[in-house]
Amino acid sequence: MVSRRVKDLEYAIRDIAVVANQVKESGKEVFHLNIGDPVIYDFKTPEYISQALAEATFAGQNYYVDSLGVPELRSEVCKYERKKNNIDITSEDILITSGVTEGIFFLLAGFLEDGDEILVPGPTYPVYFNYANFFDGISVEYELDEDNHWEPNIEDIREKINNKTKAILISSPNNPTGTLYSKKKVKQIINLAGEYDIPVISDEIYDQIVFEKQYTCPATLSSDVPIIGLNGFSKAHLATGWRMGYIYYYDPEGRLTELKNGIEKMARARLCANSIAQFAAIEALRNPGPHTEQMVQKLRSRRDYSYKRLRQIEGLQCVNADGAFYLFPEIDLKEFPKWDNDKDFTIDLLKETGVCGVYGSGFGEHGKNHIRLTFLPNEETLKEVYNRIETFLS
Ligand SMILES: Cc1ncc(COP(=O)(O)O)c(C=O)c1O
Repeated sequence: MVSRRVKDLEYAIRDIAVVANQVKESGKEVFHLNIGDPVIYDFKTPEYISQALAEATFAGQNYYVDSLGVPELRSEVCKYERKKNNIDITSEDILITSGVTEGIFFLLAGFLEDGDEILVPGPTYPVYFNYANFFDGISVEYELDEDNHWEPNIEDIREKINNKTKAILISSPNNPTGTLYSKKKVKQIINLAGEYDIPVISDEIYDQIVFEKQYTCPATLSSDVPIIGLNGFSKAHLATGWRMGYIYYYDPEGRLTELKNGIEKMARARLCANSIAQFAAIEALRNPGPHTEQMVQKLRSRRDYSYKRLRQIEGLQCVNADGAFYLFPEIDLKEFPKWDNDKDFTIDLLKETGVCGVYGSGFGEHGKNHIRLTFLPNEETLKEVYNRIETFLS
C-alpha cells in the first residue's frame, strides 16, 4: 500500500508529541521541552519583519517568484554571508529554500543513490538520516565524544571514509548536544575532506545562538575544499513557521558545478519558496534588529539555570551547551534499573510528570541512554520541570 521510503520515516521529536497528546487528554499538564521552536515560547517574531510580510501580501506580491529565490534576497543573503564570514561567494552561489530542511532534502537528493554514504555526527539531527534513507543512501554516524565535550572524533571519521562517501556533514552548534565543534576540529575535518576529495556540508542554523565561545564557520577555514552552507530565518529571526532558508556554495575551484545545476533543476521542479516570506526576509537582513541578541541573552540564563539543576540530580550527567537551546543529559540506567532504555525512561517521565523531552535514541546510535531537553521555557516553568524530574527520580 505504501512505499518503503514512507514506511521507514521516523521522527522522534514529533513522535513523542503523540504520547504527549494522550497525556494531555487524560487531564494532566504537559511541559513541552521536546520541540526546538522558540516562537511557541516567549520569543516572538519581530514586529517589523511581520509588518514586511503583511505589506508584501497587500502589495500583491503573492505570485510565483524565481525558483532560485527573489534576486534581491539572494543578493542580501550573499552580502550577509560575505560580511559575517568573510567568504568569497556571489549571489549566484545562493539558493533560497523552504527552510534548511528543504536544503538538506535537495542536497541529499543530489548526492546520494544506491548505498552511497554521507558522514553525519552521532548523535545527530534525525532529518539527515531520514532523508539519506529516503534517497536509498546511508547516513554513517561519526562519533561526537561525550567525554571530550562532544567534540568530533577525527580518527573515527577517517576510518569511516570509503569510496562510497559523498560528503561529511558538520552540525555546530549541534542538535541535540548544544555543543560547538572547536576551530581545531573543524579545520581537521576540512583537511580530511581535502585529502579524500569530498565536500563538506555545514548546517549553520544555530550559528547566531552561541553563548561564551566563538562560532567557527567552516568556509572561513577552507582554501580549496568545497563547503556547502545551510542557514535560514527560523531560529535567529524567530520565524520557524515561515519556512525560509538558503543554501550557499563556497566552491573556489568550481567542483560543485554539476551538483549545483542538478539542485537548481530540483528547485525549478518545485516552482519556488514562499514569496511573501522572501520579501520579509529581505527586510530582516537589511535592517537587523536587536532580537537575536536579546534571545541569546535570555537563553543563556535559562541554559545556566537548567544546567545547574541537572547537575544536582543524581543519575543524570550533562555536558553544558555552548549554543542552540538543547541540553542532552546521559541517564545512568544502572542507577535506574526500572527502565530498560532511554525511550521507556522518556515516556514514563512524560506519563508520570507531564515533562516531555525527546528520547536520545531518536538521534541515532550515539544518542542512546540520553534525553534531549530544551531550555526554551521561562525560568518559572523550568523550575517546575526540574522539581518534577527530581521528585520522579528520587
Ligand atoms: C540542526 C538543525 N537543522 C535544521 C533545522 C530545521 O531548520 P528549518 O526550520 O530552517 O527547516 C533544525 C530544526 O530544529 C535543526 O535543529
